Amino acid sequence: MQQFPYLFSELKIGKRILKNRIIVSPTGETMPNFDGSPSSQVMAYYAEKAKGGAAAITWGILAVEFPRGKTGDVKNRADTPKIVKDMNRMAEGIQRYGALFIPQLFHAGAMTNSEATEGYEPVCPSNKEVESLYISRYRKQGPMHELTTQETKEIVQKFIKAATYCQMAGADGVNLHCAHAYLINQFLSPDTNSRTDEYGGSLENRMRFALEIVEGIRKAVGPDFIIGARIPGREWVSHSMTEEECIEFARRMEKAGCDYLDVSAGMNMSQAKIIETGAYPQASKLEYALKIKQAVSIPVGTNGMLRDPDFCDNLIKEGKVDFVMMARTVICDPYWPQKAYEGRIDEIRPCISCNDGCMGRVRRRQHVSCVLNPTAGREETLGKLQKTDTPKKVVVIGGGIAGMQAAIVASSIGHKVTLLEKTDKLGGQLNLASVPPHKDQINKAKNWFANECVRQGVTVKLNTPVDLQTIKSLNPQGVIVATGALPITKLPIEGLENAVQSWDILKGDVAVPEKKKVAIIGGGIVACEVAQMMLQKQNEVTIIEMLPALAGALEDIHLTDMLIEFKEHNVDINVLSVAKKITKDSVTFVKDGKEITVNADMIVLSVGQRPEGTDLIKQLKEEGYKVSVIGDVKKPAKIYNATLDGFYAGLDI
Ligand SMILES: Cc1cc2nc3c(=O)[nH]c(=O)nc-3n(C[C@H](O)[C@H](O)[C@H](O)COP(=O)(O)O)c2cc1C
Ligand code: SF4
Repeated sequence: MQQFPYLFSELKIGKRILKNRIIVSPTGETMPNFDGSPSSQVMAYYAEKAKGGAAAITWGILAVEFPRGKTGDVKNRADTPKIVKDMNRMAEGIQRYGALFIPQLFHAGAMTNSEATEGYEPVCPSNKEVESLYISRYRKQGPMHELTTQETKEIVQKFIKAATYCQMAGADGVNLHCAHAYLINQFLSPDTNSRTDEYGGSLENRMRFALEIVEGIRKAVGPDFIIGARIPGREWVSHSMTEEECIEFARRMEKAGCDYLDVSAGMNMSQAKIIETGAYPQASKLEYALKIKQAVSIPVGTNGMLRDPDFCDNLIKEGKVDFVMMARTVICDPYWPQKAYEGRIDEIRPCISCNDGCMGRVRRRQHVSCVLNPTAGREETLGKLQKTDTPKKVVVIGGGIAGMQAAIVASSIGHKVTLLEKTDKLGGQLNLASVPPHKDQINKAKNWFANECVRQGVTVKLNTPVDLQTIKSLNPQGVIVATGALPITKLPIEGLENAVQSWDILKGDVAVPEKKKVAIIGGGIVACEVAQMMLQKQNEVTIIEMLPALAGALEDIHLTDMLIEFKEHNVDINVLSVAKKITKDSVTFVKDGKEITVNADMIVLSVGQRPEGTDLIKQLKEEGYKVSVIGDVKKPAKIYNATLDGFYAGLDI
């Protein structure tokens, strides 16, 4: 019997039937060809999700005006009939798996800059600096052109044209991006729209731009083509649309010809409300969808952190929403729908909402991927692994995530793999990384990798320290060394013995004090997460960091939220500061050429890591073993680097 009968029931949207209630949420994936047409990799990325069982695929942010209407490095476009041929190939690649193909049309408006628009001045409803258009630290806002009434009408026509190109390309519908502070949202929101013409002022006028687009598209494409919209349920900025206005907008979109509504939340400055971190619960935007569902009769969906099939099934069963939208859930595991359908829940690779490999990379101008799923964004080359013609006996040393990933891949392609771990459990640093606030999802990932080792037939030996003799006795044809890293403990700081190590706090060997003064030397990700642990117990925190900024490697959405938290708790942040001396109850550092001493009940050292196991690598190489060195022992880095290293090592051994 089907375990999730509601999630896997059909849904009528417009005149079309979806095979289940799972729609892939759009992800502007930065992988198109240079001219903005979908590359074969873009096609493979979405086709994989269709193959994985989703009922419909939304392809993220296609600019209706190019390049003036695009943002960042996302070059997807639907402004020209030249796109039709390639988009058609993409549509067919998705539809062959029984999924509908729904490109998302958008115009960035002011949510871009002249670098992204290739020199064109970005456009906006009203030329003003506003909170909701806060641009991330990777982008700066520049001069903008306020649209005239005539120009506004021309952009309405561009949306309509773009929808017809999508229809020509064989798409099943379009999704209009009316949220997340892009142009349609900029017209809707009083925060960004203070026009005095027919497109500004009253709600009626602010909605006009969106409604004219929907009405125009409906006229152009006929009744069978799906028109959906991603709409704001709450904007999370001051001067925003009220919730009542959002509901009224939903009603009017239905009346104008929309077939479904996908309720989102947040503007650009409230990014974590759009793409939630681990601090948020599943379905954090549900309350807005609930209200909108009561106001309209077309299908309504929600998105955000939907990771658990049972939870999703209940949302449908209880009539809270008609469908669920998933982005990171299926970036991390495109086969989430199929595995849920077949009741193989333990096999679902669980997204940890870190944003580092997906949105973080997109922001850094790299293609979308995933810290736990190296095949994401590389489906074309890594999607289907060939069995090896020459199976080997392979030993992997170290059961952290790099070692586990290498073992999984090597075993899955036919090698005989033994994984040796010196401690009594797998996971390595994941065991520490899961300790700080809101990081417990990492435990799920750790368990998935450990279980996947078993599923793929890896022989796992715990409590097995490794030296040259161990390897000789196993006589492997390939050795993968993933021995990880240890914290740096030696520094030219007087009185270093008075400090405790951040790792000892994470391990639970040193208790987090309560309502004390804590100074942390180091301002990297680990140091900042230890600071968050200290704040949870109402400690007063001072951070002393050599570099110009805290947690430079941390993904932007997490960083923004963390800095807000530090500000709220008056964390004393000292950058470009060098610690000189530690006593039992103080730390002295140099900042701006001045020596500063702060009193502290606990001084924590968290200044990075050094590779562990380099001697063994040397010995193995001298003995003539084929050695592959991966993860932190190669260079201390992040989960993303560890899994990618592991994947390639397992493949190439
Ligand atoms: C890499 C990435 C790119 C995204 N691009 C878009 C986009 O182009 N359009 C959009 O409406 N939402 C976009 N989103 C938001 C997602 O569609 C989704 O609503 C959000 O991530 C929450 O769902 P999730 O928890 O399943 O990821 C993006 C999210 C990610 C992670
Ligand atoms: S990179 Fe992190 S947030 Fe993004 S899909 Fe992968 S696990 Fe999820």
